[in-house]
Amino acid sequence: MRGMNRPDPIAKKHGAELSVDLKETITYLWPYLWQFKGHVIWAVLALIGAKAASLLMPWALKEIVDSVDRSLHPELYLPVLFIIFYGLLRFGSVFFGEIRDALFGRVTEHAMRNVGLRVFKHLHSLELAFHLDRATGGISRDIERGTSGISFLMRFLMFNIVPTLFEIGAVAVIFAVTFSIWYAVITLVAVIIYIAFTILTTEWRNRFVREANQADSSTNTRAIDSLLNYETVKYFNNEQYESDTYDKFLEHWESAKLKNRLSLLTLNSGQAFIIAAAMTVMMLMAAQSVISNHMTLGDLAMINAYMIQLFIPLNFLGFVYREVRRSLTDIENMLALLKREAKIIDTPNAKDLNVTQGHIRWSQVDFAYDKERPILQHLTLDIPAGSKVAIVGASGVGKSTVARLMYRFYDINKGKIEIDGQSIHSVTQDSLRRAIAIVPQDTVLFNTSIRENIAYGNPSASDADINLAIKMAHLEQFISSLPQGDKTIVGERGLKVSGGEKQRIAIARVLLKNSPILIFDEATSSLDSHSEAAILDAMREVATGRTSIVIAHRLSTIIDADKIVVLENGQIIEQGNHSTLLAMQGRYAQMWALQQQEEK
Ligand SMILES: Nc1ncnc2c1ncn2[C@@H]1O[C@H](COP(=O)(O)OP(=O)(O)O)[C@@H](O)[C@H]1O
Ligand SMILES: [Mg+2]
Repeated sequence: MRGMNRPDPIAKKHGAELSVDLKETITYLWPYLWQFKGHVIWAVLALIGAKAASLLMPWALKEIVDSVDRSLHPELYLPVLFIIFYGLLRFGSVFFGEIRDALFGRVTEHAMRNVGLRVFKHLHSLELAFHLDRATGGISRDIERGTSGISFLMRFLMFNIVPTLFEIGAVAVIFAVTFSIWYAVITLVAVIIYIAFTILTTEWRNRFVREANQADSSTNTRAIDSLLNYETVKYFNNEQYESDTYDKFLEHWESAKLKNRLSLLTLNSGQAFIIAAAMTVMMLMAAQSVISNHMTLGDLAMINAYMIQLFIPLNFLGFVYREVRRSLTDIENMLALLKREAKIIDTPNAKDLNVTQGHIRWSQVDFAYDKERPILQHLTLDIPAGSKVAIVGASGVGKSTVARLMYRFYDINKGKIEIDGQSIHSVTQDSLRRAIAIVPQDTVLFNTSIRENIAYGNPSASDADINLAIKMAHLEQFISSLPQGDKTIVGERGLKVSGGEKQRIAIARVLLKNSPILIFDEATSSLDSHSEAAILDAMREVATGRTSIVIAHRLSTIIDADKIVVLENGQIIEQGNHSTLLAMQGRYAQMWALQQQEEK
C-alpha cells in the first residue's frame, strides 16, 4: 500500500499543504481506535467468522451438486443436509458481517468525534492572521470531509482490503490443492494485473478527482461569500455580476466533474475486462476437464462459485482503492490543518498575568502586518493604573491595531508591552485575555438570542447580573420594545440588530466580563448623541477604578480623558489632556476645531 503515498513536495512555508502518508495517518489514528480494544477484537473475530463461512459456501455447493448427481451418491438425505448447511453458511457470513460493522462503527464514530474536536480546538488556537487568510466555508468542509474520510478509511482498509487479500490467497490455495496449480496461477495473475491496473489508473485519475474536489470547495466558498454579502450585492445592483461569477465557478466544476467521470469509465471498464477474461479462461479449462471426466459437475460449480465470490470483493477493491485514496487526501487536508503550528504561543513555563493595579506600558514598539508596510514605529505609551487614556487619529492610522496588540492577536516586531511590569509575551494568553475586556469596533454576534449573546461575556453569570448589565448598557428600553424581548434571535452575524444596538450588547458583555482593563474601540460611533451620552455615562461608571483605553472618532466623547494621544504615521505626535492639547495649537486643536464646526 506504500504506492498510495503521494510524493508531494512538502510545502514548509505555509504549512497548509503538508503531505501525510498512509502509514502516518494510521499511526495518527491508531490510538483513537485502540481506545476501544474490546470492540476492535470482537469485530476482528466477527470478520474471521464471516470470511470462514463464505469460504465454505462454494465447497458446500459442490457437495450439493455432486450428491444430487445420483450416479455418485444415491442417498437423498445428503443433499438436504448440505443444502441446510449451505443456508446456514450464507446466513452466517452476512450475520457476522453485520456484527462486525456494528462493533467497528462505534469505534470509528468515537474516533471521528475525538479527531473532529481536536481539529476544532486547534483552529481556535491558531492566530487571527490564519483565520483572516482562510475562508471559513473551506475550512469547515475540510473538517467534514476529513472526519468522514476517517470512517471510510477504517471501514474499507481494515475490513475490506485486508480480508479480500486473505480471501484471494485462500481461494488460490484451495484451487491449487483440489484441482491444479494452473487455476491458482490464473487467479493470482488476474488479481495482480487487476491490482496493478487499478492502482496505475487511479493514480492517473487522481488529479481529476482533486480538481473536482477543489472546484466543489471553491464553488461553495463563492456561494457563501456572495450570500453573506447579500446587502452589499443589492446596494450595488450586482445580482447579475454575482450570478455570472458563480456560474463561472459552476462551469469549472461541471467540466472538472465530467473529466472525473470519463476517467472513472476507463477504470471501471478496464477492471471488468480483466475479470471477464480470467473467468472465461477458467471456465473453458473446467468445462474441458468435466467432459474428459477429470472433474465432477460439482467441481465446475465450485470453481464458478469461488470466482463469482472473488469477483464481488475484487470489483469492490477498485472502489475501495479509490475511496481510500480519496479519504487519504481528505484526511491529509484535515491533518494539514492540525500540523499548522500556532504562531502565537505561550512561552514555556509562562505564568499567569497578575494584575495588581493595571499599569500598561508600551516601550519602543514596532509593528507591521506586512514587512513592507510598517504600522506602528517606536511607539512609547504610558497608561497609569486606573487612568483613562484616549487614542485619536485618522482612520487607518493603527488605533484598532493597538487594541489587537494588547490582546496579543499578533506579536510585535520590536519593543515591549507590559502590564504591571510583566511583558504580555511572557504570560499565558488565557490570563492576558481574561484581564482585558473590549468593545470592538465591529461587534459580531452569534446567531442566538440577545440574552445569550450578552451572557457570552461570562457564561456563569447569574440572571441578576445579566439584568443589571442590560440596565447599565441602556438596553432595557430596546429589549422591552421587542415582541420576544431578550429571547429575540439576532440573525447570522447579528445582522438583525442595528449597529448601535450591537455596540450596547457588546458593552453589556464587557460589563459581565468584569476585567481590570477595558478597551473601547469607537464604542459609540454608531450611536446618536442621546444614546451616546447615556453610554458614555455607563462607560464612565464601568471604568471607575479600572484602566481604560478609549479609541474615539468623536473628540467630544473624550474630553474628560486623563491623557489623549494623537497618532500619526505610526507615532505619537502629541499627548496631554484636552486643555493642554488645545493650548498647544497643534494637530489636536485642528481636529477639534474642525469637528466643532461640523457640529454647528
Ligand atoms: N490583518 C491585516 N493585515 C494587513 N493589514 C491590516 C490588517 N488589519 C489592518 N490592516 C491595516 O493596518 C492599518 C491600521 O488599521 P487599524 O488599526 O484597523 O486602523 P484604525 O486606526 O482605523 O483603527 C490600516 O491601514 C489597515 O488597512
Ligand atoms: Mg479602527
